[in-house]
Amino acid sequence: MTEVKAPVDKRVPVIDAQNIVKTYKMGDIEVNALRGVSVRIFAGELASIMGPSGSGKTTLMNILGCLDQSTTGSYKLDGVDVDKLSDDQLASIRNRKIGFVFQSFNLLRRTPAIENVEQPLIYGGIGMRERRERSRAALESVGLGDRLKHHANELSGGQQQRVAIARAIVTRPSLILADEPTGNLDSKSGAEIMCLFQRLNEESGITVIFVTHDQRIASHTRRVISIADGQITGDVAVEDQILACPDPAVVRPMPVLEKAKR
Ligand SMILES: Nc1ncnc2c1ncn2[C@@H]1O[C@H](COP(=O)(O)OP(=O)(O)O)[C@@H](O)[C@H]1O
Ligand SMILES: [Mg+2]
Repeated sequence: MTEVKAPVDKRVPVIDAQNIVKTYKMGDIEVNALRGVSVRIFAGELASIMGPSGSGKTTLMNILGCLDQSTTGSYKLDGVDVDKLSDDQLASIRNRKIGFVFQSFNLLRRTPAIENVEQPLIYGGIGMRERRERSRAALESVGLGDRLKHHANELSGGQQQRVAIARAIVTRPSLILADEPTGNLDSKSGAEIMCLFQRLNEESGITVIFVTHDQRIASHTRRVISIADGQITGDVAVEDQILACPDPAVVRPMPVLEKAKR
């Protein structure tokens, strides 16, 4: 009988975090926010990290997003060992590879939507004309082509979050990290946001990871990684994924995404 070897998994994970520990020191007190978290996420996944308030979700997202570094542990993003990088190198990786979406939108409030979306392109050194063109296309993709010049504070919460998503995708990232992206929204706007994330994942293959305390939000993804008290407590495939988009026939095309890189 010939021996059959198990196939070697040659895929490189987008995210490969091993034994991540994060300890915050506050005077004499130490807070162990993450206590040995290991997680691998592959290109094209739509996953959520779910846990109660204080479980370490934001701390983990900040590390995965290269906004902060672990106390100990190893983290590779797209095969690159980010533990060893300088602050400038981390900033450059963030700008090129990752789009962030936050609960509180983090927009410049008295600034037109289109200029908010342009921000990461300014940082990335993209010229004025291309910046404008790409930002307009990104806003059109999220259904805000008629709100380019509205200031952020003249838009509804759901619209502001869509501006934030346009800002996240305008750099054509391979990874989107979203921390409680529907936490400040009513359920209808929340569903529109979830629809956008599902389409970004499906139509352009962007890896999307949500952080949420909400089981229902997590059920919009295909994989739920549970976290409690700074440790991973579960990792399951979602059987009945909630599809947030209405009839595909009425969904607008997302032109900016046709050029999105994998
Ligand atoms: N900058 C910080 N300094 C000190 N403690 C922090 C800091 N950020 C978070 N923590 C603590 O770490 C734990 C995890 O927080 P966090 O990651 O924000 O949880 P979650 O996002 O799941 O609500 C909490 O106990 C919180 O108080
Ligand atoms: Mg949080």
